[in-house]
Amino acid sequence: YALREHNTFGFDVRARQACRIEHESDIDEARAFAARDPALAAAPRLVLGGGSNVVLTRDFPGSVWLVALEGRRIVDEDDDAWIVEAAAGENWHAFVAWCLGQGCNGLENLALIPGTVGAAPIQNIGAYGLEMAEYFDSLRAYDFETGQIVEFDDARCAFGYRDSVFKHVARERFLIVSVRFRFPKTWRARAAYADIARALAEAGVTDPSPRDIFDAVVRVRRAKLPDPATLGNAGSFFKNPVIDARQFAELAAAVPDVVSYAQPDGSRKLAAAWLIDRCGWKGRAIADAAVHDRQALVLVNRGRATGADVLALSDAIRDDVFKRFGVMLEAEPVVV
Ligand code: FAD
Ligand code: EPU
Repeated sequence: YALREHNTFGFDVRARQACRIEHESDIDEARAFAARDPALAAAPRLVLGGGSNVVLTRDFPGSVWLVALEGRRIVDEDDDAWIVEAAAGENWHAFVAWCLGQGCNGLENLALIPGTVGAAPIQNIGAYGLEMAEYFDSLRAYDFETGQIVEFDDARCAFGYRDSVFKHVARERFLIVSVRFRFPKTWRARAAYADIARALAEAGVTDPSPRDIFDAVVRVRRAKLPDPATLGNAGSFFKNPVIDARQFAELAAAVPDVVSYAQPDGSRKLAAAWLIDRCGWKGRAIADAAVHDRQALVLVNRGRATGADVLALSDAIRDDVFKRFGVMLEAEPVVV
């Protein structure tokens, strides 16, 4: 099964088999099918939404589960909030726009993030001063070990910066089928992120509505981030590293202009893009794998790159940043 159309890097790899999950009942059917073929039953499994946060390094020897579950609705309302549920296969950006249309405001800072609703909790997607976890209520997931649907609340998901339980102990064990969000009825603009504040000012907006923020986020992202439809990529390739106050003091003494953000617990988040840029990597390439020329944190496929080329490039960047700044970068997408 060809995966080229199912990963935004556009890597030309194949899976042994694929199944498309359009209804929850398709999960049991797909499992029963796999159980009849011993080789397939023992083979690895890969759940895929939009493929916008994976690095497929070679042909996949098992089955790929393409999540195409659809549907979204307001399921509950009380004096303080609306509860909205969406199926895992819904397109994230379309979902955010739909919520705004329903008067459920808050996710507008996360407009235009590629991929599906079901993948959003995996790394707790974030952008422009907001993380998905702030509006998360709960999710339902199919457990491949027990064959049951289970519910996860916020605590059980253990969300962090680009992190959740689904990247650790629960990795590859669950297929998220639906996600619930809680939208408080009182809304406040979150517009302090420099790029967004600038875009609003340029548009002459002083008291932004949710729609104004949505539009500003879309404009900023279109200007900075490559569109996977024309240039393969998976967004940021590394997380922004978080270091403790002591290590930051040493770094800032040696590199006074280092770009960083103070964290509530006293630690410091560094802009990985700045570290990479300062090492001179912007625009450089290994084979067809390149560092994007407008955003140094984004690695792109100029045409015929393979996952191995991208990993070779990312290893070289990681070594260089470590030698120069003593900071180790960690990959953000899921390497398969
Ligand atoms: P996939 O790539 O299909 O899967 C990602 C991981 O989640 C895999 O491990 C997969 O197995 C697992 N998974 C997917 N769906 C399910 C499911 N239903 N159940 C269980 N496991 C599942 N991310 C941000 O946080 N902020 C950004 O600003 C941002 N900008 C981006 C910009 C660009 C141009 C691109 C290409 C990517 C960007 N990303 C960003 C990364 C990406 O959009 C998100 O991580 C997104 O949530 C991935 O969704 P997906 O459906 O494509 O997931
Ligand atoms: N910078 C450079 N050179 C560059 C790009 C940026 O020096 O080429 C510096 C700038 O000084 C800027 C700073 O780096 O102030 C941060 O850049 P930017 O605002 O573009 O954000 P980022 O840290 O690179 C993060 C997320 C993005 C998210 C944006 C907006 C991570 C790993 N990445 O990028 O998420 O969209 O902030 O909030 O946290 C993703 O996860 O895939 C992703 C795109």
